[in-house]
Amino acid sequence: MTWPTLITLTIFSLISNTISQQEYVNNKQLDCDNTYNSTSGNICNSVNSCQSYLTFISNPPYNTLSSISNLLNASPSLISQSNNISTLQTIPTGTILTVPVNCSCSGNNKYYQHNSTYTMKTVGESYFAVANLTYQALTTCQALIAQNPYGIKNLVVGLNITVPLRCACPTKKQRDQGIKYLLTYLVSKDESVSSIADIFGADPQTVIEANKLSPTAFIFYFTPLLVPLKNEPPRNIVKQASPPESPPPPPANPGDSGSSSSKKWVIVGVAVGVVVLLLVVLALFSHCFYKRQRRQPELPPPVGKPFSDSDNKKISDTTSTTQSWSLSSEGIRYAVDSLTQYKFQDLQNATMFFSEENKIKGSVYRASFKGDAAAVKILKGDVSSEINILKRINHANIIRLSGFCVYKGNTYLVYEFAQNNSLDDWLHSENKNKSKSHENLNSTCLSWFQRVQIAHDVADALNYLHNYANPPHVHKNLQSGNILLDGKFRGKVSNFGLARVMENEDNEGFQLTRHVIGTQGYMAPEYIENGLITPKMDVFAFGVVILELLTGREVVGGDKNNGLLRDQLLSSTVNEVLEGENDREKLRGFMDPNLRDEYPLDLAYSMAEIAKRCVARDLNSRPNVSEVFMVLSKIQSSTLDWDPSSRSVSQVSDSR
Ligand SMILES: *[C@@H]1O[C@H](CO)[C@@H](O)[C@H](O)[C@H]1NC(C)=O
Ligand SMILES: *[C@@H]1O[C@H](CO)[C@@H](O)[C@H](O)[C@H]1NC(C)=O
Ligand SMILES: *[C@@H]1O[C@H](CO)[C@@H](O)[C@H](O)[C@H]1NC(C)=O
Ligand SMILES: *[C@@H]1O[C@H](CO)[C@@H](O)[C@H](O)[C@H]1NC(C)=O
Ligand SMILES: *[C@@H]1O[C@H](CO)[C@@H](O)[C@H](O)[C@H]1NC(C)=O
Ligand SMILES: *[C@@H]1O[C@H](CO)[C@@H](O)[C@H](O)[C@H]1NC(C)=O
Repeated sequence: MTWPTLITLTIFSLISNTISQQEYVNNKQLDCDNTYNSTSGNICNSVNSCQSYLTFISNPPYNTLSSISNLLNASPSLISQSNNISTLQTIPTGTILTVPVNCSCSGNNKYYQHNSTYTMKTVGESYFAVANLTYQALTTCQALIAQNPYGIKNLVVGLNITVPLRCACPTKKQRDQGIKYLLTYLVSKDESVSSIADIFGADPQTVIEANKLSPTAFIFYFTPLLVPLKNEPPRNIVKQASPPESPPPPPANPGDSGSSSSKKWVIVGVAVGVVVLLLVVLALFSHCFYKRQRRQPELPPPVGKPFSDSDNKKISDTTSTTQSWSLSSEGIRYAVDSLTQYKFQDLQNATMFFSEENKIKGSVYRASFKGDAAAVKILKGDVSSEINILKRINHANIIRLSGFCVYKGNTYLVYEFAQNNSLDDWLHSENKNKSKSHENLNSTCLSWFQRVQIAHDVADALNYLHNYANPPHVHKNLQSGNILLDGKFRGKVSNFGLARVMENEDNEGFQLTRHVIGTQGYMAPEYIENGLITPKMDVFAFGVVILELLTGREVVGGDKNNGLLRDQLLSSTVNEVLEGENDREKLRGFMDPNLRDEYPLDLAYSMAEIAKRCVARDLNSRPNVSEVFMVLSKIQSSTLDWDPSSRSVSQVSDSR
């Protein structure tokens, strides 16, 4: 796209913004803990009420006119007319219905909505489940939370909640263009603005404007999109042949057509039920664990920041599941005295006498113990602190220490083997003498999905280290060279040589040192300037790692032109990119060219934003790692939605 077109489009979208259409939710409906302008509802910006349409996809138990009209507080006869279907028939699963409803701005509510009432049906049903599963994203968890007096913990079966269904009325500008109705459409997989516009014979440009989308924006499935209509919608919505998600299984019972997607719904329903149950159990479990941890004698009274109750409450359901998961697996796998003490001869045999061929890099050698691969690292002097830390830690994303050997003043540490070496080998391989084992590094580069996964893995590890390890630790030396990648490119944090116990959790492990050591480019300003050691120094370093993942650049500008001036720090560049106008275009230019354009810009933007907060100069402005982890979890799950080809990868990792 040439500059003039871009500029025109930008100006164009600025103009249409001022004419104020509605803002697209942009997948923010997933983040139930935070409210965004777009998630509360469509803003009243025109007439007080109008007729509008919702779309609803028939799926049991909502597959008859009466059940659907009941759910949506709509008129069965109008639905019947609008879709040319008879009142009594069961509507085949997967049929897209248009539902005429009155849309209004009333009371002191400043959003266009159509109210319905829903009676909570199952134990553990959450606002999110109601919004996403039952109402198919016609409402958001944020709007439900805002418009109901019940807290998320007080939802019980039989409770009636108000459901504000999103709708909107045409603005003057739209009416002038001949637009009569706005239809709230549920985006499904593989759809785009133009394919959706096609279904309704609408002009894609009007759809873009109606949702305040930028011309390059990305739309997410399972989000509502407004489609401006000049006439009533077609009576029979047929999408252009879109490939089915899975080959349709034989009908479960004859007469119920479209059982393929009906199954999907059932599976989703069951899965949600199971997840909710697990969540409750695990929440209880983690609560006990957490209590126990707090009662350790050497710890101060419970007012500490990382463990404060208010923080704990803020953790969303999804995060607490993940956290509880790692906790429970910790509980099972935890074994303090699991380390093997190796004989030096065994190490010699396993590494072919520390041969050159077995050298990975530095003083790290590949070893093979009865066919099992391992890495052996040779360290001088006393490394008992690293051993003492690692022997107590067992987390899938922290490199596992399996044993050690002390011989003639050296310590040999035996670790699990990470087949794909370190992250920095993959990100910066062109700029360095490649290590021998990776001659073919240049031929491949980490995909967007792999990068997001690695960031998520590292956040998981740091979250564990700061908040759940006993005692909690600061890593102090996080950098891409210390993030190892296993055969499936899952990230594993290594090198705990500088790690420190957080001694005083009240002030987040506030400690001072005169002995400032670390890696340039990753060290937080307060550590360099005052020797201050807090968990926020890991957050800073992690922000730099995220920037490396996004940009592929070195953390400090050198002689080679990799987009940084000499001695410029990568951490100092992100503010400039995300500030001011054209931030998205600037971000595109900032991204790793090796990714080509194969990444969703919106998610990259979110990731750059969190990185920016992590590298804030003031440590109090940096988020806790638990928050970073939560954000990355969301980015990761959206990435799964974005890239169909990454599904297989996710299945592999899920079955881990
Ligand atoms: C959100 O809405 C408020 C008031 O309604 C407005 O002041 C603010 O600018 C909006 N923010 C964005 C990002 O549109
Ligand atoms: C409505 O459906 C009937 C059959 O069920 C069909 O004969 C009729 O043409 C349809 N009308 C429209 C307007 O599609
Ligand atoms: C909207 O309300 C009017 C009366 O206020 C009613 O006549 C009309 O049928 C309603 N439309 C829908 C779609 O419910
Ligand atoms: C819908 O519900 C909201 C409260 O959630 C209320 O303010 C508004 O007046 C209701 N709208 C109608 C049309 O009843
Ligand atoms: C929302 O519901 C759809 C349909 O069941 C499902 O595919 C999607 O994963 C759900 N979204 C989330 C974030 O759970
Ligand atoms: C919820 O609504 C239904 C029907 O509108 C009513 O029968 C029931 O009593 C209500 N339940 C509560 C707890 O108000």
